[in-house]
Amino acid sequence: MKRAFSGVQPSGNIHIGNYLGAFRQFVQLQDVYEGIYCVVDLHAITVPQDPGELREQIREVAAFYLAAGIDPSRSTVFVQSDVPAHTELAWILNCFATFGELSRMTQFKDKSRKGGQESVSAGLFNYPVLMAADILLYQADVVPVGEDQKQHVELTRDLAERINRRFGPLFRLPEPLIPPLGARIMALDNPQAKMSKSAESPSSYISFTDSPDVIRRKIARAVTDSGREVIYDPEAKPAIANLLTIFSGFSGRPVHELEREYRETGYARFKADLAEAVIAGMEPIQRRLAEMEAEPGYLEQVLRQGAERAAAIAESTVRQVKEAVGLGLGRA
Ligand code: AMP
Ligand code: TRP
Repeated sequence: MKRAFSGVQPSGNIHIGNYLGAFRQFVQLQDVYEGIYCVVDLHAITVPQDPGELREQIREVAAFYLAAGIDPSRSTVFVQSDVPAHTELAWILNCFATFGELSRMTQFKDKSRKGGQESVSAGLFNYPVLMAADILLYQADVVPVGEDQKQHVELTRDLAERINRRFGPLFRLPEPLIPPLGARIMALDNPQAKMSKSAESPSSYISFTDSPDVIRRKIARAVTDSGREVIYDPEAKPAIANLLTIFSGFSGRPVHELEREYRETGYARFKADLAEAVIAGMEPIQRRLAEMEAEPGYLEQVLRQGAERAAAIAESTVRQVKEAVGLGLGRA
């Protein structure tokens, strides 16, 4: 079986963009790929975190994998910092990544523009290298992610190729797997910005902690485009195109079918039905999250087993890399 690897940061509430762009794919891939899924807490600390909240959010992301439908008897779910090989390989890869290529990463450019390059952490700069280590440790064939992570997976391939060329075939080259629909869900209050956990305004996203009433209100207030026709045209009607994508993602109905039904009904009716589709699609996940909370010890057990399985694979890769690069005394 080919292998899929992905990671999600424990920072902020999980929103419907994360679900449609990432988690939903992880679950669908389970039949075809061996899945390894990680809560990337070391990535989260590249920006300041409150220790108590961080720990809480690690649990939340781990629980979300399972609630979304990742089956721990088939897939591996673990916390990144429980497997020290991630930091170990990240350092080695850092010595092959260049300052220039990391400077060109758009996520770094965006985040450091907000904070100012003088004050952001060196960890934020090196973030994509840690991500490359995550992926390469497991010799992943595919990396299911939203559109925003494509550049980081390409960097991962570049690093792997560079090192393979110099030291022999150490790493499998991974492919990004971007979903055809939902790879870039936009903010409800601004169809030019992606829906983001770190957004200032909670009305820009729908989080899995939102109640049905909050969801109805947020969708009712979502910005729309001029005119009143519900048609899928991302250029002319970016807000409506985004809402159609969300509707299709949660209802399973193709966009063209939704267009046919709602073209003439006006935005209010469209939004009301959209809200009910989102609520209905989120409900089973929210219910499983609540069930898990009532079952202490279960999550810990899954994560402990996951970390053991992950460590066995990761340590074997690190051993081969150290040997090839010439680190330590080597095998006697
Ligand atoms: P993060 O929360 O940044 O760790 O992202 C977790 C996963 O969700 C990654 O695969 C992202 O590409 C994906 N993702 C984040 N925001 C969005 C969005 N607005 N639309 C679609 N996918 C997203
Ligand atoms: N950088 C990813 C994000 O913000 C999270 C991530 C870390 C990841 N390591 C990864 C995703 C490895 C895929 C594979 O969404």
